[in-house]
Amino acid sequence: QQARVVAVDGPSGTGKSTVSKRLATQLGAAYLDTGAMYRAATLAALRAGLDLTNTDAVTTAVHHAKLDFGTTPADPYTRLDGAPVDAEIRGPEVTAAVSAVAGIPAVRAHLIAEQRRIIAEAPAGIVVEGRDIGEVVAPDADLKIYLTADEAERARRRSTENNTDITTTAADLARRDTADAKTTKPHEAAPGAVILDTTGLGIEEVVDRMRRLLNDSN
Ligand code: C5P
Repeated sequence: QQARVVAVDGPSGTGKSTVSKRLATQLGAAYLDTGAMYRAATLAALRAGLDLTNTDAVTTAVHHAKLDFGTTPADPYTRLDGAPVDAEIRGPEVTAAVSAVAGIPAVRAHLIAEQRRIIAEAPAGIVVEGRDIGEVVAPDADLKIYLTADEAERARRRSTENNTDITTTAADLARRDTADAKTTKPHEAAPGAVILDTTGLGIEEVVDRMRRLLNDSN
């Protein structure tokens, strides 16, 4: 059977990473967190002390950064210049800066080429999560899922995960989605995507529904 590609898109805080990782584990497939790639690129630019509006300098820094992404769902590591940066890329500095870096077309072109290479080299299939996977990165994916959840639930989940105040978290999610909407379409499902509203659903329930969708798409 041909290796399968599952594209999972949606705004921040919908539980994309958690359910995508579990789905990949259950399928024996690889897992790619494209958000981690934009975050690692952002960290490279921040470490270089660059003004993020200097798009040429940021692009050069991202081209020269040595980025490695582990695609085993049990251990999806991110390395920058050989060292793990998994915690740092999810910290407040990178989170505040990532939309600006992800908005640079040359940075996107570079990372999208890398994403397509990783997808093409996944022998047992791959679950890929992000904002533009179904529309741009892998428009021929075997299954496209658009995850949503209402704003209050997204903020609640993210504040529990990061141990942050719910009001600040809600404001941060809204700010990031608005900033991202200049580049991708976090509030829109890709053509052909199945919309899955996860409000009120537990993790296993969401993963079960995704598996059913995948079986139905056979
Ligand atoms: O998914 P996560 O919240 O880790 O993504 C971090 C950021 O990376 C997003 O807010 C967005 O700016 C960017 N991103 C993107 N395209 C993707 C995935 C993430 O622009 N496919």
